[in-house]
Amino acid sequence: MSPSPVPAVPRPPLRVALAGIGVVGGGVVKLLEANRELIARRAGRPVEIVAVSARDRHKDRGVDLSRYRWEDDMDALVAADDVDVVVEMIGGGDGPALTIARHALGAGKALVTANKAMIAHHGLDLARLAEAKDTPLKYEAAVAGGIPVIKAIREGASANQIARVYGILNGTCNYILTQMERSGASFAEALAGAQAEGYAEADPTFDVDGIDAAHKLSILAALCFGTRLDIGAVTASGIRNLIAADIREAEALGHRVRLIGMAERDANGLYQHVQPCLVPADHPLAYVPGALNAVVAEGNFVGRLFFEGAGAGAGPTASAIVADIIDIARDEYGPAFAMPVDALDAAPVADAGARVGKHYVRLIVEDRIGVLAEIATAMRDAGVSIESFIQRGTDDDDGVVIAIVTHEGPASAIHAALKILAASDHVIGTPMHMPILAL
Ligand SMILES: NC(=O)c1ccc[n+]([C@@H]2O[C@H](COP(=O)([O-])OP(=O)(O)OC[C@H]3O[C@@H](n4cnc5c(N)ncnc54)[C@H](OP(=O)(O)O)[C@@H]3O)[C@@H](O)[C@H]2O)c1
Repeated sequence: MSPSPVPAVPRPPLRVALAGIGVVGGGVVKLLEANRELIARRAGRPVEIVAVSARDRHKDRGVDLSRYRWEDDMDALVAADDVDVVVEMIGGGDGPALTIARHALGAGKALVTANKAMIAHHGLDLARLAEAKDTPLKYEAAVAGGIPVIKAIREGASANQIARVYGILNGTCNYILTQMERSGASFAEALAGAQAEGYAEADPTFDVDGIDAAHKLSILAALCFGTRLDIGAVTASGIRNLIAADIREAEALGHRVRLIGMAERDANGLYQHVQPCLVPADHPLAYVPGALNAVVAEGNFVGRLFFEGAGAGAGPTASAIVADIIDIARDEYGPAFAMPVDALDAAPVADAGARVGKHYVRLIVEDRIGVLAEIATAMRDAGVSIESFIQRGTDDDDGVVIAIVTHEGPASAIHAALKILAASDHVIGTPMHMPILAL
């Protein structure tokens, strides 16, 4: 007679506290309730919300929180004996989010966060704390919302050297750019539309100036290259300076304008930059529509990986957060940045000006004799070789729009030419400079 199987000892529920019940927190409550049974089977144990907290207890959040313990005091929420995992969904690089993250990890509890600003600025310290306490720090939702790109790079592609990671990391900007493309709208009109549709905040600075994408890029770079997170080394310029003519000229050149975060590691060091670029129309990034995000990672054995999906929103962000919680329930976790903090390199910052490629430069100039010669002279003096020089009449700003495409050359030469032209009385406003990507 064969021995009867030993019945598995049921594992105790994983007890979760939610700090912040806004867009994302509300989504997490809904998801954990809607998929409760499936999650328990996948996690190997039930996942239970035991306590919740936010600023205003009486606010209508569109979810029934009456069955959960409400804690007015975030510290009490984190310190409670019946809490295994703290899910931080407050936001902000510092302040209460950072305080509770430190308290949770310091107390040996698992921390799940959607907070890219906090991870970008304090990720190394938090990871060190998590290591010291041998407890998980998970942040899938902090980069590209619902796209499981952290897990894919940290686990699925972990055997590869990654030379380059890049993508569309901000849905608000992508929405604005695709609206400009479709309707010919100006930046200001497309931004107003994005605000009316709920895709952009009343103060859009973090999104349109590239800061949000910079946070995400710095996190991706650390993971992909095994380098120390260094948000100070990321340079960012946003999309405010784009005009409708830039979108049209890009299209005429067989490209589309996208805000691209790119990190690349080579012999010169680590390059991390967020800026609007001309993307060839046959590259998948040119087809990422609306508020979606997309990430490309190039591994030396796997080749090019392309991930696309919703970068924000209650459902997609909750999907990423709950996946982290399920990993914790299964005891599947490791160092936050795929290796211990002490094993991460401090890569030198590569000189962005030395990067060679083709460039697009757009100027608005006064309509008078000699201006074109002045531009050509500035370009020549700065060592920029011009491939094409397009003048197509006037734009909104009462000037003549000049679009220039250069031959391959270093970005520093373009910067030098624009510095010369900044002193000209005939150039109106700020010129636009975008690299033309060869992907
Ligand atoms: N929204 C997205 O699609 C998305 C996507 C990816 C990542 N994220 C990240 O997820 C996090 C949360 O974003 P969200 O959109 O859900 O923000 P949100 O809607 O503004 O919600 C923030 C929550 O935090 C609470 N809160 C704020 N300050 C607090 C304080 N000082 N003390 C206690 N509670 C406080 C708020 O309480 P009250 O409700 O009582 O005011 C609210 O419940 C951020 O880090 C964000 O970057 C968001």
